[in-house]
Amino acid sequence: MTREDAQALDLADPLARFRDAFDLPSGVIYLDGNSLGPPPLAAHERLEAVSRRQWGEGLVRSWNTAAWIEAPLRVGGKIARLIGAEPYEVAVADSTSVNLFKLAAGALTLRPGRTTVLSEVGSFPTDLYALQGLVALLGERLRLKTVAAEDLVAAIDDDTAVVMLTHIHYKSARRWDLQKVTAAAHAKGALVLWDLCHSAGAVAVDLNGANADLAVGCGYKYLNGGPGAPAFLFVAGRHQAAIRSPLWGWMGHAEPFAFEDDYRPAADIRAQITGTPPILGLAALEAGVDLQLEADPALVEAKGLALADLFIAQVEARAPNCGLALASPRDPSQRGLHVSFAHPEGYAVVQAMIAHGIIGDFRAPDIARFGFSPLFLSYAQVWDAAQAMADILISRAWDRPEFRARAAVT
Ligand SMILES: Cc1ncc(COP(=O)(O)O)c(C=O)c1O
Repeated sequence: MTREDAQALDLADPLARFRDAFDLPSGVIYLDGNSLGPPPLAAHERLEAVSRRQWGEGLVRSWNTAAWIEAPLRVGGKIARLIGAEPYEVAVADSTSVNLFKLAAGALTLRPGRTTVLSEVGSFPTDLYALQGLVALLGERLRLKTVAAEDLVAAIDDDTAVVMLTHIHYKSARRWDLQKVTAAAHAKGALVLWDLCHSAGAVAVDLNGANADLAVGCGYKYLNGGPGAPAFLFVAGRHQAAIRSPLWGWMGHAEPFAFEDDYRPAADIRAQITGTPPILGLAALEAGVDLQLEADPALVEAKGLALADLFIAQVEARAPNCGLALASPRDPSQRGLHVSFAHPEGYAVVQAMIAHGIIGDFRAPDIARFGFSPLFLSYAQVWDAAQAMADILISRAWDRPEFRARAAVT
């Protein structure tokens, strides 16, 4: 493909108009929206309004007058539309890590007597740590079994309470078949808890179409909700009356403002909300979600996959024999919207690209990772990024001591 071909794709791109809705610095090609999405312009405005008017003038009255108290369910209901859920099945609360813990523990209350939680070797660390923490808490009553992806479905048995999987793998971008795995787990009487961090706002997800049980996801990647944005969680309607959260807080009480001494859980998704909602974070997240809702999810997914295909093809064609190995599925139907290449000097390669204004990230031990957020990237930018990466690899521009100095966040 020539650069002119890429420009022609941009002219025909029905999502091109979204680029102007983001605040992105000029001279930067941002291939890290899968780690931290850039700010929508509307998020700046929303934060300013919430801070000055609702917080500054409304003060505590804004819990009612600005409907702050409804924000976790209101924004959850909007996210529901992006993931194939009903509005009453999704709430915004806590972080992904905390929600993983709550729903994994909750799954055990739905499957008493079963003693295994099953996950994949090499899952995102926090997913495994949340499960390890739960096992440490429960001792003999629970064990964590982790197996390789290819052995996972066969490892589900009648002792499996819950299978926890990241729908799209954070490193490889390999995509699980949500419907098939859910059906296989159900056939053994087990539940599935999906981590949608790399899926929400990226690929078309249909939780209810797959008869899914439980899911979590973050707000700061493809939903562009801002650094440390609050996370979301999904509990299928049929599980809401019976599931119990291990974290009992007043916002999960049936009547928070009754101030009763004894905990009485709400009978619906509110039981998964622990404490006071983070209103500033919710305001920014809502701006990101509102923008996302304007885009057709099928077009978003198709463009992201096409951008990723373009990047793979261009980098491989222009920089053969440079030590790169594709570490993501080549088949786009098996992949999410990021692409990983293994390279022995992956960290230095990413740093050299950042020095050229092309921002990706590095995942130890050797993965250079690039995300293709469809709302603000153009085909021509991706073409340019591939060209720059090839130039850096061929010229070994990465081979400088300053590009090897590791920062705290990679
Ligand atoms: C799959 C997955 N789960 C969870 C997280 C992070 O969880 P938290 O938002 O609690 O830091 C990430 C972060 O990149 C992730 O990729």
